Amino acid sequence: MRFVYCKNYDEMSKKIAEDLIQEIRQNPEIVLGLATGSTPEGTYEYLVKAYEEGTVDFSKVTSVNLDEYKGLGPDDDQGYRYFMNHHLFDHVNIDKANTYVPNGLEEDSDKACSEYEAIIENVGGIDVQLLGIGGNGHIGFNEPGEIFIKGTHCVDLAESTLKANARFFDSIDDVPKQAYSMGVGNIMSAKKVILAVSGKNKAQALYDTLYGDITPKVQASILQLHNNVVLYADEDALSIIKEKGLL
Ligand code: GLP
Repeated sequence: MRFVYCKNYDEMSKKIAEDLIQEIRQNPEIVLGLATGSTPEGTYEYLVKAYEEGTVDFSKVTSVNLDEYKGLGPDDDQGYRYFMNHHLFDHVNIDKANTYVPNGLEEDSDKACSEYEAIIENVGGIDVQLLGIGGNGHIGFNEPGEIFIKGTHCVDLAESTLKANARFFDSIDDVPKQAYSMGVGNIMSAKKVILAVSGKNKAQALYDTLYGDITPKVQASILQLHNNVVLYADEDALSIIKEKGLL
């Protein structure tokens, strides 16, 4: 794993955007695995800025997102399709027909998941996966548990995730209880993973991810086994690792 130390969230966002721009320039037909949540928002802002300045071209880029809440459609402003349109796709020249998010409106979970697996296969797999991490160590919506799940699946969201994500909804009762998420197998199959971690509330999860056992109780810990992960972390996220004298 390669570490890129960042002073703060802004520096992290800028450096990740630069990394992604470089990847797109090297391979204009790249398949990007994209993430939602607060963490990548700054990165998307920098990507939009770069596009406006004419330094990046998304016309041949394909994207597959990690996850979507079950029950939310493309027009739900808390949904992840809406998030991606709002933060990135509406502002750059990506062909939206080449952008994929699990179909939250499909009630049949098996169907939704097998269709998404087929999409990932049809696009030829993921070249570069952008990843955030949950406070409980989840990646995508792969929640702490007893096993690692390989492919796209329907998840019962952990109580801690419902609480953490309630900030985007009117109340915690409005947070959908289930989601469709890529599995860790999909994530681990990406040729390169960019892991973005910012803030004190992620410091324990980051420590566990990097220095703990490889365990489904901390789903991100499986990234220790990936041979091309670039970690962008800010000082706050690294605080526990620093306290322990590991940096
Ligand atoms: C969300 C998403 C993850 C994301 C994580 C952290 O629930 N499913 O893909 O990485 O939780 O979110 P945030 O960046 O808002 O802290």
